[in-house]
Amino acid sequence: MGTAPIFPGENVCGIIGYIGNEDAAEILLDGLKRLEYRGYDSAGIATIDGEHISIKRIKGNIALLEKVLEEKPIYGKIGLGHTRWATHGQPSEENAHPHRDCTGTIVIVHNGIIENYLLLKEKLKKRGHRFKSETDTEIIAHLIEEYYHSGVVHRSCDDLEKAVRRALKKIEGSYALGIMSSREPDKLIATRNGSPLIIGLKDGNYFIASDVPAILRHTKDIIYLEDGELAILARTGVRLYGQNGKLIRLERRIKRISWDVNMAEKEGYPHFMLKEIHEQPRAIEDTILGRISPDGADIHLEEMALNKNKLKKINRIIITACGTSWHAGLIGEYLIEEIARIPVEVENAAEFRYRNPIITDDTLAIAISQSGETADTLGAIREVHQKKGRVISICNVVGSSVVRESDAVIYTHAGPEIGVASTKAFTTQLTVLYILAVYFGKIKGTLNAEQAKKMIADLRRLPQKTEEMLKQEKEVIKIANKFYRHRNAIYLGRGKGYPVALEGALKLKEVSYIHAEGYPAAEMKHGPIALIDKNMPVIVLALKGSRYDKILANIEEVKARGGVVIALATMGDRKIKEKVDEVLYVPETSIPLSPILAVIPLQLLAYYIAVKRKCNPDQPRHLAKSVTVE
Ligand code: AGP
Repeated sequence: MGTAPIFPGENVCGIIGYIGNEDAAEILLDGLKRLEYRGYDSAGIATIDGEHISIKRIKGNIALLEKVLEEKPIYGKIGLGHTRWATHGQPSEENAHPHRDCTGTIVIVHNGIIENYLLLKEKLKKRGHRFKSETDTEIIAHLIEEYYHSGVVHRSCDDLEKAVRRALKKIEGSYALGIMSSREPDKLIATRNGSPLIIGLKDGNYFIASDVPAILRHTKDIIYLEDGELAILARTGVRLYGQNGKLIRLERRIKRISWDVNMAEKEGYPHFMLKEIHEQPRAIEDTILGRISPDGADIHLEEMALNKNKLKKINRIIITACGTSWHAGLIGEYLIEEIARIPVEVENAAEFRYRNPIITDDTLAIAISQSGETADTLGAIREVHQKKGRVISICNVVGSSVVRESDAVIYTHAGPEIGVASTKAFTTQLTVLYILAVYFGKIKGTLNAEQAKKMIADLRRLPQKTEEMLKQEKEVIKIANKFYRHRNAIYLGRGKGYPVALEGALKLKEVSYIHAEGYPAAEMKHGPIALIDKNMPVIVLALKGSRYDKILANIEEVKARGGVVIALATMGDRKIKEKVDEVLYVPETSIPLSPILAVIPLQLLAYYIAVKRKCNPDQPRHLAKSVTVE
């Protein structure tokens, strides 16, 4: 494979599937309603009655799908349903799942991202397949068709299972799949690789789902599929095969869920904020997926939509955003300047839009927004356009206003963020900014091939490092329990640690209502040091790096004035323990990637302090998820 394409995948959508003795459409629709809280932009269901397949898909909400089904009901006791949250490819009826092959007999729903889909699509087109959507998902249906109908699998028997297995061998990327065929209307196939999928069991009725809430009304007996496993669901029972193709005894795998619906929506976490903090390894992985060439030497950002010659001429970058996204931009400044040596200015969007900024031909503006609906960020984009400048946005929501008004967009694949406090959106924005910095570095020639390869290798290890970081949660809880009664806090950092300090302080104030401020550590002696006493916890980002000694000196300054220091230090740094009151350890990573790990304990600290103070971290007072007014 020459290039790793950017693809219209969806990794955070909802899947439901059913086979049994009841009317499938009703069960599927109910399951989709129970997944609505996750956010989606289109939906669809398909059923098989006899050998007749019916499909209904809509762009919009489930209520609309319900209306369509009321007017034209569909029948059958087997079916698949899906809610799509587009990551690429506009939300539309054609792009909504389920998808079918050319013959219309194979039906599939998919969560995940097929990395080599463009290559497969080209091959399949040459073999005469006709595609109806822009999705990567549809190629899976056509690929199965290749083996299923051509007799490659077996001339006389229609063996969907074998065709699916053969097709899976060709697919690179992540998937959770529900598959059925009108030629074998008594079976539903489920398989996964990198995207969650569960099976629900209840006396002759079997379900598949991406999430527990979709099927909790029907059963609490669940099997969590593991990567590489494949299950065949029939009315007579479920067969589960391991990665090695061997049958697995079901009894060992069935888990009884004790969650209620409210808990199930949060996958057992008490709040969305905590769930989303824990989703970060997956979200970062998805943001990276498809953007690195298979040999790990190159970055692919086809969505930049500006050719490399134009990009080469960029000599100034302006990053504009609000809140947490603005903090991501501040770290982006360090990354792009250090790695690509392009001068960067970062400005709060509300300030930028009204100060008659200077935009020259060689300027590129980057707007960052999770929601894509922030009024001031939109205002800043319009200001750039009015001055004939170009805007690339980094955004999490396909089809949002920021995306529509930008010249190009690089999506974060964080998935819907429901907690008002931004967590996984921030770390995926940073991931994109790092990718962008390396991309520019290569274009500008500030990175040679070897340096770029090393930086990409560091990036690949990041999801694993993020997992390691989350393992420090218990230590964070201990500190939260000690400090939750304080009324003020100061966060200090140097270099890239400074915006992380700002973000840590923002998290604490917005969810726990404790007054917190972030400062560049050296700035402290110009004023804030007057606040230091034994009642002022000072959280210091003291990771190993070029300014480590200077940050130790700042810690001494605080300690000398009776301050209480909580340090964020690099794993293995024993020395710092003697100098501070508390330490939270961050796994070692490359310096440019360290902010992504360092912010996680600060998110957790804010969360646990909020919970101790009996604040609802998911819905802080006076705040809305997207700020659509000036
Ligand atoms: C952060 O926790 C807040 N929710 C807020 O600062 C947010 O980042 C800001 O309103 C910008 O939102 P956006 O990323 O959706 O544009």
